[in-house]
Amino acid sequence: MTNDAEHVASDPNWWRQAAVYQIYPRSFADADGNGIGDLVGVTSRVPYLAELGIDAVWLSPFYPSALADGGYDVDDYRDVDPKIGTLDEFDEMVEALHGAGIKVIVDIVPNHSSDRHEWFRAAVAAGKGSPERERYLFRDGRGANGELPPNDWTSIFGGGAWERVTEPDGTPGQWYFHLFAKEQPDLNWEHPEVHADFLRTLRFWSDRGVDGFRVDVAHGLKKDLDAAHDDLTTIHRAELFSDGSHPLWDRDDVHDVYAEWRRVFDEYDPPRTAVAEAWVHADRRARYASPEGLGQAFNFDLLQAGFDADSFREVIAKNLAEAAATGASSTWVFSNHDVVRHATRYGLTEESGAAGGTPVGADGKAWLLAGGDPEYVDDALGLRRARAATLLMLALPGSAYLYQGEELGLPEVGEIADRDRQDPAFFRNTGVEIGRDGCRVPLPWTAAGTSFGFGPDGGAAPHLPQPAWFAEYAAEAETGAPGSTLEFYRAALRLRHELQDAETLDWLEASDPAVLAFARPGGWRSVTNFGDDAVPLPGGEVLVASGPLPGDGTLPGATTVWVR
Ligand code: NOJ
Repeated sequence: MTNDAEHVASDPNWWRQAAVYQIYPRSFADADGNGIGDLVGVTSRVPYLAELGIDAVWLSPFYPSALADGGYDVDDYRDVDPKIGTLDEFDEMVEALHGAGIKVIVDIVPNHSSDRHEWFRAAVAAGKGSPERERYLFRDGRGANGELPPNDWTSIFGGGAWERVTEPDGTPGQWYFHLFAKEQPDLNWEHPEVHADFLRTLRFWSDRGVDGFRVDVAHGLKKDLDAAHDDLTTIHRAELFSDGSHPLWDRDDVHDVYAEWRRVFDEYDPPRTAVAEAWVHADRRARYASPEGLGQAFNFDLLQAGFDADSFREVIAKNLAEAAATGASSTWVFSNHDVVRHATRYGLTEESGAAGGTPVGADGKAWLLAGGDPEYVDDALGLRRARAATLLMLALPGSAYLYQGEELGLPEVGEIADRDRQDPAFFRNTGVEIGRDGCRVPLPWTAAGTSFGFGPDGGAAPHLPQPAWFAEYAAEAETGAPGSTLEFYRAALRLRHELQDAETLDWLEASDPAVLAFARPGGWRSVTNFGDDAVPLPGGEVLVASGPLPGDGTLPGATTVWVR
């Protein structure tokens, strides 16, 4: 380890302004050629990640899973999916990442297990009234013979939220609750064994050197399934409830769980970190980010904001104030494995029906869209705006979360045939949602070769088909290419490292309403022109620009510069 790497390794605040790169392991790099990305593949790309200049990786689930929901249906929380690797390979990967000064964050999925988890199998086998059933949310059905679900709540992926089991004697039996797919039964967080088992899991991975956790559906664990809830249109809109009164989401006592987790995190040196995925009312997000709880929470506000100066400023100011009040640092994100890639979102044309380039689904989330239809996308404009937005984000105080492939400027893949789709959101909601497969297509590493270098030449086809146009976005093609998105990300991340200081910013008043400008401690400024027309280039030395500058003293539309 270099001195620098050693310092980072022991710094308890490493996460506060980290650039975190999300790896969706099944689609990152396939070393064994079975068509599915694996942990050895991640290890083989450590030099690439180090060169990119990120501080940490966050790995989406790599646990044993039948992949009913891309791995968020976990069979065993303390093992590696044999399709993806082994625990030894996990250890080797962590060692290689740490050796390069990169921290490791893993995904924890506490709201539900998979229906193949040993606890769930035991619950079905043991029958009604058994202690095994207590670890999940089983209820009797309504109707003369219990043939109707306990209530008519719907699951997030469409269809009912209850599934009926067959009892050990072969008769139709009780129902269990699932917020997501039916293969994802919700755990009962009133049960002490559920609490104890997750503490064990947190220690298991922490002992293996994991530095932090991303907590899936952090706002969902506690529920009141017997509550009356008439207004079904809002059943999945936790954001609308600011008082903790929703029966399924964001209930006050969920924080008891995280207080318990915090005590485990603090057993380690440096303490393990966590970031909550919590789609809650903005006023309640701070609770998840409190130092006594998970410490940090995603804010998806920027991801849902239209590409305009006022919206960005409002979101940024609000979130910085929120972070200052709790002692957490802000989080920023434009793309992840659940939403349409931002290079495509920002290129959606008016015919797509997307307002201000930000298509938002009926429940307010950017993942519920028929995005990615190439007919409605202006790729060049999308990428230009995406790069401008990213450079602005990288100038902000707080952590920046990046999603694999965005550093290549990858657009969403729209042209996936129905038969190739995998996302349960597509199958349970056919015709309404296209699902999230378009941002999960395996990465192109080389311009030629079977699977564009995702797997070895002659290996199996990638688990989701890659379009021919992936060649032009290959990491190899962009490496060293002047103006490429990859070189732009590398330059911006390198500079961010040098320049980031105290977690504050000062807004600068711009003469044009389409311009958003702010200064950071140390005397550097970020200036974004959100408009279509060029504006005067700000004075000072240009450190990096998100797109070409014409050299005539102007800053073109949809472009960000850092100046000093
Ligand atoms: C949020 C995850 O990001 C998403 O991919 C998953 O489908 C749900 N949680 C359920 O685990």
